[in-house]
Amino acid sequence: MKQGLPAGVNLMKAPKHDSQQSLKDAVAEGLKKTPKSIPPLFFYNTAGSQLFEQICKLPEYYPTRTEQKILTDNARAIIETFAGEVELVELGSGSSSKTRVLIDATLANQTHLHYIPTDISADFLLESSIALKSEYEPLSITAIAAEHSDALRLLPEAGNQSRLFLFLGSNIGNSEREEAISFIGQICHRMREEDRLLIGFDLVKDRQVLFDAYNDEAGVTAAFNKNLLVRINRELVGEFDLNLFDHYAPFVEEHSRIEMRLISRCAQRVHVECLGQGFDFEEGEYIHTENSYKYTLEGFGSLCAAAGMKMQEYYLDERGWFAVGVFRKSSGG
Ligand code: AVJ
Repeated sequence: MKQGLPAGVNLMKAPKHDSQQSLKDAVAEGLKKTPKSIPPLFFYNTAGSQLFEQICKLPEYYPTRTEQKILTDNARAIIETFAGEVELVELGSGSSSKTRVLIDATLANQTHLHYIPTDISADFLLESSIALKSEYEPLSITAIAAEHSDALRLLPEAGNQSRLFLFLGSNIGNSEREEAISFIGQICHRMREEDRLLIGFDLVKDRQVLFDAYNDEAGVTAAFNKNLLVRINRELVGEFDLNLFDHYAPFVEEHSRIEMRLISRCAQRVHVECLGQGFDFEEGEYIHTENSYKYTLEGFGSLCAAAGMKMQEYYLDERGWFAVGVFRKSSGG
């Protein structure tokens, strides 16, 4: 037992391994590609996570509050489809804020709940686990600090209770189709007949609504995007001038996704000391920093089918902007 953890809270950590790319490698590799790109994983240092929490509260950023409303309206129905008691496994739990309604709904049916949150940030995970435990006496928490594949491997053996796996917040939208299929397939592999997977995914909608959600008036998304350049400047001794890059996040029809970009305002060379090299930008050239895929219900259903999962039920908000799907292993799969 680790010291300082309250009774009922346990922490497991994945050992660091070689496949985890460092910021340094990602920048060295990504900035020599055409178009230049850096994966969204690197948004989430402490400052970046705080900026993301701020994005979630923006008037234009509908996904968080829409999903929250869908879960609040349907948590009882979701939990009541299970015959017996359940435990919750949440992949990428963050602050576990949306999970509270599911915890409430579960504790209406059973006296005790095993909650297994996983997140890459150990500090954040531990902080929110301790906060949750102090709010909910009947919880026992096994927190797993690891990225998704490691977390799934470290998952404790399931007992008599059914498991409800959660993958919320449209985080799936960051992945290319093939990656998403492989990831959902990994979850499927850890599931039994009686287990369910709940995924929140964002839907194609009015283009202006989509655009505004990623190009907000207050400029918080711009700051979130530019935080990557701040990190490169600080951690790799880079010389990015934040005023010489613009945030721009268009919806790209052909791929049905929002692309987050940092556009160079002029032709420039940016030196990065720790890489011992400079990177040339033409005027208007951009760094592609994130994809956020927007799905149709049918499209998402077929993606999951390719991973061996069947959509058993789905819930929408009244505007049809966001979806929460409940999936089971397809029989024979
Ligand atoms: C956390 C990946 C779901 O794609 O909407 C928000 C990240 N990027 N604004 C999203 C994000 C810019 C977000 N996800």
